[in-house]
Amino acid sequence: MTDKDFVPSSYTTDITEGKVTYKSPSNIALIKYWGKKEHQIPANPSISFTLDTCATTTTLSYKKLKNKASDFSFDLLFEGSPKEDFKPKISTFFKRTELYLPFLKAYHFTIETSNSFPHSSGIASSASGMSALALCLMELERELNPHMDTYFFKRKASFLARLGSGSACRSIEGDIMQWGLHKDTLKSSDLYAIRYPYKVHPIFKNYQDTILLVDKGSKQVSSSLGHNLMHDHPFAEQRFDQAHKNLTKLKRVFEEGNLSEFIKIVESEALTLHAMMMTSMPYFILMKPNTLEIINKIWAFRASSKTHVCFTLDAGANVHVLYPENEKEEVYQFISNELVAYCENGQYICDQIGNGAKKL
Ligand code: DP6
Repeated sequence: MTDKDFVPSSYTTDITEGKVTYKSPSNIALIKYWGKKEHQIPANPSISFTLDTCATTTTLSYKKLKNKASDFSFDLLFEGSPKEDFKPKISTFFKRTELYLPFLKAYHFTIETSNSFPHSSGIASSASGMSALALCLMELERELNPHMDTYFFKRKASFLARLGSGSACRSIEGDIMQWGLHKDTLKSSDLYAIRYPYKVHPIFKNYQDTILLVDKGSKQVSSSLGHNLMHDHPFAEQRFDQAHKNLTKLKRVFEEGNLSEFIKIVESEALTLHAMMMTSMPYFILMKPNTLEIINKIWAFRASSKTHVCFTLDAGANVHVLYPENEKEEVYQFISNELVAYCENGQYICDQIGNGAKKL
């Protein structure tokens, strides 16, 4: 498929008003997307676990205008109150997607959105938020074109979500999603994410992710700025190449359920992501002292307990603690006894692999 396949030729019905709600989850990357080209094309392929609990619920109400407006017309409510500072991101999203959703200026939209996690938790809501909005808009498009099939619906929802925020394209479905062209993954694409198409060992079923909220403060560096710093980065090419190789290695790991190898790839990816930030110009450090304390505790516990607990990080100080469901009790005890003390106000979120977005 090319981006031209997502430009509709015409619509068969006329819809004057309506309302739709989607709940869409966040996701946690195992192989990280860090660096992009023009039009939200990733510099390397990435793969993630779709989460279950961390999600955004968005209701889109739409009302056809008498005449097509010259600009996008919408109101935005976040947790029940108008939120002006979220509007520029939505306007940018509408601008980027207008070619593919030519009805955008023909309606007035009210977007009501809320998160299952606290806004100030340091958990990015762009993946869940942009995927929820993309799905609501696709639902309206499906009303305008009722013959649309589910395959196309999901592909285009992921394609649109990507234009809002890269990682959002991996939140449409579950349980493992891959985005970005990769020679060893059939049907992989830079334009949208696909469900991981190969065999996955049952050990990964219901894989647990406990998110330790180490620092709830606002991010020092936005992801967009971080991605840009990969342009003149001295290690960029090696990094992109490494992501491709790790994805190839992961295929066998997923198939065989080899958790020791899984841990090596996942932790190395997390540290590489942060190494890229530390070696860009300007350079920055998003880990906090408590992030490192937690990592060291995880390593010590893994060695002494023979469990398969490991960590990953996103572009911040919080730690995602990953472990198989059959080690849940033992690892959870360890988290509450030894790790919660390093969380801001003792806060953490228990999550696990989920099945993707749902229409409510
Ligand atoms: C570190 O998807 O937030 O979480 O495309 O600029 O919106 P934009 O970036 P974003 O970047 C996420 C980066 C990451 C790694 C990942 O999720 O793969």
